[in-house]
Amino acid sequence: MLLHLDGRGARYRQIYRSLKRMILAGELGEDARLPASRVLAQSLGVSRNVVLLAYDQLKSEGYISGRVGDATRVCALPESGLESLQERVTMTPEQLPERRLSEQAGIALQQWRRRCSGQREQHLKYDFRYGEVSIDQRTVTLWKRLNSRLFDRSLLQYEDPRGDPELRELIAGHARSGRGCHCDADQVCIVNGSQQALDLVARLLIRPETRVYLEEPGYLGSRACFETAGAGLHPLPVDVEGVDTSCLPEHVAQPALLYVTPSHQFPTGAILSLSRRVALLEWAQRNQSYIVEDDYDGEFRYQGRPIASLQGLDRGLRTLYVGTFSKVLFPSLRIGYVILPRPLIEPFVALRWLSDRQTNSHQQRVLAEFIRSGEYDRHLRRMGKRYQQRRQRLIEALQSHFSERIELQGINAGLHFLLWFRDEALAGRERDLVTQAASEGLGIYPVSSLYLDSSPPRLGLLFGYSGIEEERIEPGIRHLKALCDRLFWSGD
Ligand SMILES: Cc1ncc(COP(=O)(O)O)c(C=O)c1O
Repeated sequence: MLLHLDGRGARYRQIYRSLKRMILAGELGEDARLPASRVLAQSLGVSRNVVLLAYDQLKSEGYISGRVGDATRVCALPESGLESLQERVTMTPEQLPERRLSEQAGIALQQWRRRCSGQREQHLKYDFRYGEVSIDQRTVTLWKRLNSRLFDRSLLQYEDPRGDPELRELIAGHARSGRGCHCDADQVCIVNGSQQALDLVARLLIRPETRVYLEEPGYLGSRACFETAGAGLHPLPVDVEGVDTSCLPEHVAQPALLYVTPSHQFPTGAILSLSRRVALLEWAQRNQSYIVEDDYDGEFRYQGRPIASLQGLDRGLRTLYVGTFSKVLFPSLRIGYVILPRPLIEPFVALRWLSDRQTNSHQQRVLAEFIRSGEYDRHLRRMGKRYQQRRQRLIEALQSHFSERIELQGINAGLHFLLWFRDEALAGRERDLVTQAASEGLGIYPVSSLYLDSSPPRLGLLFGYSGIEEERIEPGIRHLKALCDRLFWSGD
């Protein structure tokens, strides 16, 4: 039996409170058998007398019964007692007594509810949701094979919290050659996806007075981490060249941190221009600040020459580079990594160790072998081709159905782009469009939900194309056009 002891007061009181709570919550129902006192004492590492004292207390209060030599069982509780408890069990967080939840939990709860309210409708026939990936059958087959081939006893102990050494070497090599990063394997720390990286970075660098500058519109997942860590958030506008560096204050008196997605700004898709990259690095240098570079889908580029990562330009001094395998392989893998400036390695690893020790060793080894054998590069080429075709289909369908009425932004890289309706008068009509679309089986996603302080000047939709099959794209867009005709342009 798993008892949660609250660590307050004498041991027997802790055991008594824990069992009483389980009985009242109905987790131990009428007639349930309690463990023998000797067994429980052994599992808790206390003397048998301590458990007997707790049982005596529960007996004297009528929660349990049993004589020496007999099993100890839970008694029937009066109805009213259970009812009042039921209320407590079904309480919402808002009904908790004042200040029972931490501030962080309050902020996280808000974000979580916002996310749940935008949750996928199950019946959607055409879903242009961003963040889905296409699953490749060849990779699934190989992964299964590697999973069973590479599983062995040596993977069952705690491992280095920084990650599998071979995988770190491979990632460092890939980041150097593919993304122009300036790093060695000892700067790479494997984490459970970039979301964990952002959470740890926030805990690593944010103090109560820290200002975090971030993109507007931007990624909600990063904002939530910075906000829960207690930072003040300062959104910076984004245009076609990426985040507008001229809006950064020249000097910041407080500690400051900057979060950017320069390879393919989320959600506008803008690629940060070289001059702005340099401006950001100079700003960070001048203000002794760090930059978090979130390269969440930078592996997919369809047009134009790739620009080296900020981390590479900076030679790894002020930039924490965050990468993930979620978009390239599959999100449930939960493997990402951070390339850290050297002075931050040890404190980062310490926090990571505190948080959850390490990333699954088995999956790290499978991934390392997948990369080492060349399958990763082959996978990237296959997926790049597939996404390129879907992207092309989507662009063509949108252009042929909407022609001059729309403008597309951020089409050159990643797994999504933005569509803006040119007519500014439509800016307030988003809810009608999205709700009506969902009721007709069409999943479209407004960009307005990704703004923190302001709202978009026009009606904008975020189009993901990695999760929708190619043959559904054109019919989905045709449906959207018919819907817009009905809602917006019936009088034209
Ligand atoms: C900009 C951005 N950063 C980070 C993430 C988190 O990805 P991961 O699955 O690696 O946690 C996402 C997920 O969609 C994202 O869009």
